[in-house]
Amino acid sequence: MKNDFAPEPYRIKMVEPLRRTTREERLVLLKEAGYNIFGLKSEDVYIDMLTDSGTGAMSDRQWSALMQGDEAYAGSRSFYKLETVVKEITGYEHFLPAHQGRGAEQVALPYFVKKKGMYFISNMHFDTTRAHVELAGGRAVDCVDEVCFDTERYHPFKGNFDLERLETLILEHGKENIAGIIVTLTNNSAGGQPVSLENQRGVREICDRYDLPYIIDGARYAENAYFIKMREEGYAEKELSAIAKEQFALGDLFLMSAKKDGLVNIGGLIAIKDDEDLFRYCRTRLVPLEGFPTYGGMSGRDMEALAVGLKEGLDFEYQRHRTDQARYLGESLRAAGVPIQYPPGGHAVFVDCKRIAPHIPYDRFPAQAVVNALYVEAAVRGVEIGSFLLGRDPDTGENLESPMEFMRLTIPRRTYTYAHLDHVAEGVKKVHENRDALRGYTFEYEPPVLRHFTARLRPL
Ligand code: F0G
Repeated sequence: MKNDFAPEPYRIKMVEPLRRTTREERLVLLKEAGYNIFGLKSEDVYIDMLTDSGTGAMSDRQWSALMQGDEAYAGSRSFYKLETVVKEITGYEHFLPAHQGRGAEQVALPYFVKKKGMYFISNMHFDTTRAHVELAGGRAVDCVDEVCFDTERYHPFKGNFDLERLETLILEHGKENIAGIIVTLTNNSAGGQPVSLENQRGVREICDRYDLPYIIDGARYAENAYFIKMREEGYAEKELSAIAKEQFALGDLFLMSAKKDGLVNIGGLIAIKDDEDLFRYCRTRLVPLEGFPTYGGMSGRDMEALAVGLKEGLDFEYQRHRTDQARYLGESLRAAGVPIQYPPGGHAVFVDCKRIAPHIPYDRFPAQAVVNALYVEAAVRGVEIGSFLLGRDPDTGENLESPMEFMRLTIPRRTYTYAHLDHVAEGVKKVHENRDALRGYTFEYEPPVLRHFTARLRPL
């Protein structure tokens, strides 16, 4: 089976030993963590698939670049290096660094909220993006193509916008009440699913028709470019960098959590095509929120590593292996009858827990039950993306029902091998076989906001 999947395009120069625990130990550790995997210590986890954000391995070239970091407050040489790479990749005129993606969001998004209650429309807002839209006084509406909710059905671009609905939403609310359109590449929240260039062009046409800003939330823009090359007609012969440029050419502003396709452990980017006014606004806000414009929350050595990592993220062999790891894990699970969001996306496999545990109602958190069972079974840490994460209706206080109940198995970059993924798959298969024994959870402690991070649960 492994023969269909790209082998590692690197060799391993340094290793970190992993600690194994017993099932009995894990039962105690999970209880102590309040049945919430965010409360576990990472050393008590064998394979950590909580996130692909800042959890990857840097290359030897990145490590050597670190040594060249210029830690000057103003005018750091490392800033200019990074700026050159960002401008080359995006084709944009302006660049500002940020400490991570949400820092970039906090700096830039309020610019577009000219009056309270204006709407951002996205294929799907990531949690922090939604939070910054709301903190800025705006409202976040998702407008993804319905096909993404049909987990069984193959579609090459399940991250696409529903363009018809996008236009209807703009007309319904009135274009003067729309702050901007946010194109999330890839669509993280529904499975790391890509958006086709045809669809991106459709969004651009609508933005032009109604004179609206086009914002790229491009944490995984390079994975998106890879899927376009592999799946969209007319792109098979193009370089990933050329496809990426085509994506950027459609946008006005690019916000990036560099902890993903930047292949670094911390960092963020703000790049602006040509809007001087927006650039000045961001630069002014950057100083009190993130730092002086030539470091913006990053150290010189971080900027050096990112300048190298951005290029490595656009390497075809790197992306082929990266996305093949997700495909490999996804295919192993599917072959065993485990329901997943199909096809698997770029950074993770999303296990469809609504179908694994239909006997657990949404407000007893079926996906959390699967996540916890997997930790006990195999010392693998996945994460719930469902009703536990979604929270409550601020008006009624009722638990909101998520359209999907996922366990996300997120793959850190260049960190685990196919053998590790076999271990993960075996664990999930066991949990799936014993699915009738899964039980839901209720709260022992529930924080008022972003509850999933610090809540404590009790099994029913
Ligand atoms: N946008 C997207 C699409 C993301 O996936 C993330 C982070 C952010 C913005 C925010 O960036 O974490 O650097 O502040 N996603 C991580 C995840 C946390 O686990 O999916 P950040």
